[in-house]
Amino acid sequence: MENTGEIRNKILEVFAEKYGSSEGARVFFAPGRVNLIGEHTDYNGGHVFPCALTIGTYGAVRRRDDRALNFYSMNFEGEGVIASSLDDLKPLEDKDWTAYPKGIIWAFGEKGYTVGSGFDIVLYGNIPNGSGLSSSASVEVLTGYILRELYGFEGITNIDLALIGQYSENRYNGVNCGIMDQFAIAMGKKDNAIFLDTATLQYEYAPVKLLDAKLVIACSNKKRGLGDSKYNERRAECEKALSEIRTLVDVKSLGELDEATFGKVESLIKDDVRAKRARHAVYENRRTISAVRALRNGNITLFGQLMNASHESLRDDYEVTGPELDALVNAARKVPGVIGSRMTGAGFGGCTVSIVRNGNIDEFIERVGREYLEKIGYAADFYVVSIGDGPGEVF
Ligand code: GLA
Repeated sequence: MENTGEIRNKILEVFAEKYGSSEGARVFFAPGRVNLIGEHTDYNGGHVFPCALTIGTYGAVRRRDDRALNFYSMNFEGEGVIASSLDDLKPLEDKDWTAYPKGIIWAFGEKGYTVGSGFDIVLYGNIPNGSGLSSSASVEVLTGYILRELYGFEGITNIDLALIGQYSENRYNGVNCGIMDQFAIAMGKKDNAIFLDTATLQYEYAPVKLLDAKLVIACSNKKRGLGDSKYNERRAECEKALSEIRTLVDVKSLGELDEATFGKVESLIKDDVRAKRARHAVYENRRTISAVRALRNGNITLFGQLMNASHESLRDDYEVTGPELDALVNAARKVPGVIGSRMTGAGFGGCTVSIVRNGNIDEFIERVGREYLEKIGYAADFYVVSIGDGPGEVF
């Protein structure tokens, strides 16, 4: 069910089954994202370089006249229609996936855009759940886009949708994520990655011209579990390191430091682990700037080397890779035609992203898949992906 037209028909059919008819229902889409380089830099005031994917989340939706909210996900069929209401939006209390759309309705209210009547919705996502390709941010941006369209909240830009998504994730869901995922999704552009300075939200599109190669995502199928709390822990370690540096140097974020300046102030950080975390944040930001320059110059080889260095830093200094992602990357590095390979997203499970020459993709999937299965004991999944646009209505 990969063709947009087919997905639209199917989701409207399910909508009619669940809610009586599909008359007046509209269908919207928001992508998932993959980050090419610049990991764990976004909450450190550094740069990121993600792109939106052509896979994502679809939503068929229709306004109601009362205050009821009905949610159904084709990815969680067993949970059935989950009934709620606009009077039932309480941060940090939801235990199921509806926390993501409900958080957005709540966040709209907090920002002065009060949603006065409910809706019925059916969601269908073709991003593998928990894969680190931002299925949750995709649902958040999708919901924001739908609210803007359905309730006529003019003046909300796509960047606002990203910020509202992040606000909701932080406050309603309790994950202190940065802005990268929601921004990449809300601002996605076909065949382009987004070079974003998270300190200022200034951004530029950069065409991803890989010539005879493609992006291949390998999904570890390791469920993240503890990921969210570890994520918040890494963030806190960086904040503490920054506060130690600030006793001597006036900087707002680790992203303001280059390697040389960091070398001079590193000894202010009173704990070795914290110093490693900060080193990653500083070096990864600089690597991202260099990588975008390399891509613009058509130097894919250098871009790939910087991806490899990014993974090593995430493994050794930031310690967010784990045996599964390391196994995928180690196996990938042995396959001819692999230009670069690294973990992507928060880590602790999730996916790797590799640039692989077209002629080697089958071999890549076969060899990396076999080595992963032997080492880890369960299979990885592979996706050859394309870079797509941001959210929109599907006709
Ligand atoms: C998650 C977060 C992002 C970012 C990445 C790591 O995807 O949601 O904000 O911090 O991890 O780069």
